[in-house]
Order: sequence, then C-alpha cells, then structure tokens
Amino acid sequence: MRLTSEEQAMLAGDHGRAARKAMEILVALGEIFEAECMLPVTSVQIAGVSYDNLGEAGLEFLQEMADGGGQARVLATLNPAGMDVENWQALGIPADFAANQQRVLEAFAHMGVQVTCTCTPYLSGNTPGFGEHIAWAESSAVCYANSVLGARTNREGGPSALAAALTGRTPAYGYHLDQNRMPAVTIDVRAGVQGTFAFGALGRAIGEQLEAQNLRPVPYIRGVQRASLEELKSLCASLATFGGAALFHMPGITPEAELYTSPDERLVLTQAEIDAAVAALNDASDAEVDFVSLGCPHLSIDEIARLAELLRGQEVAKEFWITTSRPIKYQADRLGYTQVIEASGAKFAVDTCCVVAPIKGRFNALATDSAKACYYAYAKNKFKTRFLPFDEVVQQAIKR
Ligand code: F3S
Repeated sequence: MRLTSEEQAMLAGDHGRAARKAMEILVALGEIFEAECMLPVTSVQIAGVSYDNLGEAGLEFLQEMADGGGQARVLATLNPAGMDVENWQALGIPADFAANQQRVLEAFAHMGVQVTCTCTPYLSGNTPGFGEHIAWAESSAVCYANSVLGARTNREGGPSALAAALTGRTPAYGYHLDQNRMPAVTIDVRAGVQGTFAFGALGRAIGEQLEAQNLRPVPYIRGVQRASLEELKSLCASLATFGGAALFHMPGITPEAELYTSPDERLVLTQAEIDAAVAALNDASDAEVDFVSLGCPHLSIDEIARLAELLRGQEVAKEFWITTSRPIKYQADRLGYTQVIEASGAKFAVDTCCVVAPIKGRFNALATDSAKACYYAYAKNKFKTRFLPFDEVVQQAIKR
C-alpha cells in the first residue's frame, strides 16, 4: 500500500503504541482487500460496546489502546452499550455487569471517543454529508449512511473502527470506490409499503432474495413512492440483517440513484412475499407477550412524540422499553414527552437496546415493530416474537 509520510510515521510508532497498533490493523485490512492507499475519514462509529459482547478480552484490548496513548483524531461515537448509563438499576441490570460496562465506556472516553451510545448517530450530531469517507460499524447505520446520506463506508468491525478513529484513516476499498457502488440487481416492488413495520418486512423480503442469489449485490429498488426517515432506518436495519446489504439505491428517494440506470437483472417482489416475511417474524401467536420494546434502530423524536400521544393517560401492564439515544432523550425531556411516557409505566432504556442488553432468560415473548429486533430476540435471547405495526405494539403493552 502507498502510505503518506504521516501514515508511515504512525506505523513506525512515532505517534505512540496505540496509533501504531491501529495503523497495523488498517494496513493488514488494506492488504487483504488490495487497497492502494488510505483515505482520510471525517467520522467514525464504533460497535462492540456492550460488555455482553465484548467480555473481558475485548475490554483488555480497549484498555491497552487507551494506555498506549490512543486519541481519536476525528469525531467518533459509539454503538449502544449493554445498559442505560444513568438508569441501569430500573432496567434490572446486575451491578457487576454495570461496573464492567462502565469500565468499557471509561476506556473509550479516555481515548477521546464521545460516549454517545446509539445506532442512529445520524440523528444525534454524527451526521456525515454526501460523498464523505467515514468508518462506521453498526450495520443498520452503515446502510443508512451509504444509501440515504450518500456518505461512503464499509461495514467496519469494532477494532477497525477504533483504528480509524485513532488514525483518522481507512483503507481505500469496497464502498469507498465508485465502481463498487453501482447497482447490480433491480428489485421491482409491486406492493404498497407504509410504516416502519412494513418497511422492515420489505427489508426482510428483499434481503432474503439477495441472500438466495448467494451474492451481495447492490439493489436498485423501484416502486416505492415515498419513504420517511423512520421508514428508511427500519428498511436499512432489516436489509442489513437479512441480506447483508450495506448500500441500496431507490430512485426519487436516495441521492445516488439518479447516477445509475436500473440493472437488467431483475427480481419482482409482491405483497405475497411481504406477507410471508411478516408471518416468518411472528412466532409468538401461542405465547403470552411479556416484553414490549420500540426503538430498533433507536427512536427519532417524531416517533417518541407519537408514542407520547398513544400513551397519554394510559397505564402499561408489561415491561416496556423505549430505546433511544441520550441526545434524543434530552429533546423528549424538554418537549414534555418523557413525563407522559413515564407516567404510563413505560421505561426509557437510553444508550442501549433490547438486543445488546444482558436480558437472556428474563422474558418469554417480545412484541416489537422491528424486523431486526425480532431476528436477534430469537437468535441471541431465544425469545418468541410478535412483529406488529408501531401502534399495535403499544396496544400490546397497555393494561386492559
Ligand atoms: Fe440498534 Fe440495537 Fe437494533 S443496536 S439497530 S437497536 S439491535
């Protein structure tokens, strides 16, 4: 790889042990993918934050990097942690887990990483512009950044994202290059889709078609007339989960779609496939729902406003987690939504989510509007799942 003198200096250890280790990781990655050079990045988002996933070995790596003088050179934020940093007791998080999670966050903070823990950094100030090279790790956010914002990122692992933060670089390969952003398959959607639930089901249906091809081509999705920010974040989470997609184009909606014509290779998706996706995510028809969660990906302020409207004057009878980022929660506080929501008995689970928190064995069946949350609720925690539209999820929680 061609390295600048500054990159060579980092590799030689002139900027400290952590910067050297970080550059070694990036050079190794670049060589595997035959990158010609490094690219400067403007933004980083680091996954692998929950102590539930990291464990002691992951924490030791972070502490080593912090002790080795690691300092973020660009704006870097975190994926959700395993707990609400301020309110973990109310969510039933064990004290020993909380202590370990705190050590993880301290190691990141020591390195100058902003400990904003969210999978929607683009709603909380880490919002790259069109064409910017970035290094993000959370799969739904990667898909959103590439597709909706028109920024450029590969799906980084935890160590490579941290390495990008500490060096301000990423190897030039994959979705950073024009030739890899071209669509390879047209998906004709012949069904009406509306709401986060329907877009999540659409993502699963498309994702499965992509997986069936045994390739991970960039899809060019036609037939969707309108899509809100919330619907697109749901689609991105689902497409990434079920199809490994990190980029799609949607004419009239995503910014790069106009650069391309629709590929000849074509798949048609009808209501029947979307209905099948919904059915596949509902395996709790015979089980009593005892856990309700909204906010995968983390809720926007508009979604919280809708939730406050639905919960005003109501009482919830089940454990109900509302997952969002700290900056969005502050907005909800100021706008009076928090008070209305908490008065119902629902709980904010800020900085975390129902997938990365250590809750295995605590619940039997989850109700949610998120296709991705359904997938991991079963895969990670063995919960049954009820996949429903947003308003119906809220109804599942309300006391009758
Ligand atoms: Fe975000 Fe957790 Fe879902 S990280 S995308 S809320 S699984």
